[in-house]
Amino acid sequence: MGFLNKLFGNSPKEEETMTNPKLKIGIILGSTRQGRVSPQVGEWVKGIADQRGDADYEIVDIADFNLPFLGTTDGTEPGIAAWNQKLASLDGFVFVVQEYNHSITGALKNALDFAREAWNDKAAGIVSYGSTGGARAAEHLRGILGELKVADVRTHPTLSLFTDFENGSVFKPADLHQTNMKAMLDEVIAWSGALKTIR
Ligand SMILES: Cc1cc2nc3c(=O)[nH]c(=O)nc-3n(C[C@H](O)[C@H](O)[C@H](O)COP(=O)(O)O)c2cc1C
Repeated sequence: MGFLNKLFGNSPKEEETMTNPKLKIGIILGSTRQGRVSPQVGEWVKGIADQRGDADYEIVDIADFNLPFLGTTDGTEPGIAAWNQKLASLDGFVFVVQEYNHSITGALKNALDFAREAWNDKAAGIVSYGSTGGARAAEHLRGILGELKVADVRTHPTLSLFTDFENGSVFKPADLHQTNMKAMLDEVIAWSGALKTIR
């Protein structure tokens, strides 16, 4: 392979790896319902993350993939392959998690179930919201991530539907969350980089 590179140069993929060694982190929106607030929260996370300059951050919207309900089709919908390819291209994740009946959304659970290897040996942070900061949903997600071999970091910004949203719908986060956001992203970057070495 080395002598081929000398003759023909590196492939585009190899060139990209050498010139752009930055980690790729997906900010996954966990809700898909009409009228959801998760895009506002995702943009806020991305705005803070982009200022760091330490990784390529992108919003990954489950709704864009039109995933069927697991097991109800023959599995050939293009969105299923696209979902797996997107996850495989990422080194780590920040989950934007909302609390539905004390757990995560059905849409997020379905999307989690639709991949396996593409999740494995990666790191994740959780930003949650709900009446109690989405804490119960986040704790459920942690259990699922363990099975998928995703290492979730300790620091976990929790947003209140009462004090971080106007009328529960317009996102106006309190300044105090900045500290936790920085710590969470520091941990996600450190663990994502470490886990990349064992994949
Ligand atoms: C089906 C459903 C169940 C919910 N259950 C809870 C709950 O158990 N605890 C809570 O704090 N909020 C609950 N909520 C409120 C949501 O957390 C809130 O509507 C939030 O904005 C949902 O996120 P989304 O706008 O991104 O969909 C529930 C909302 C829905 C639609």
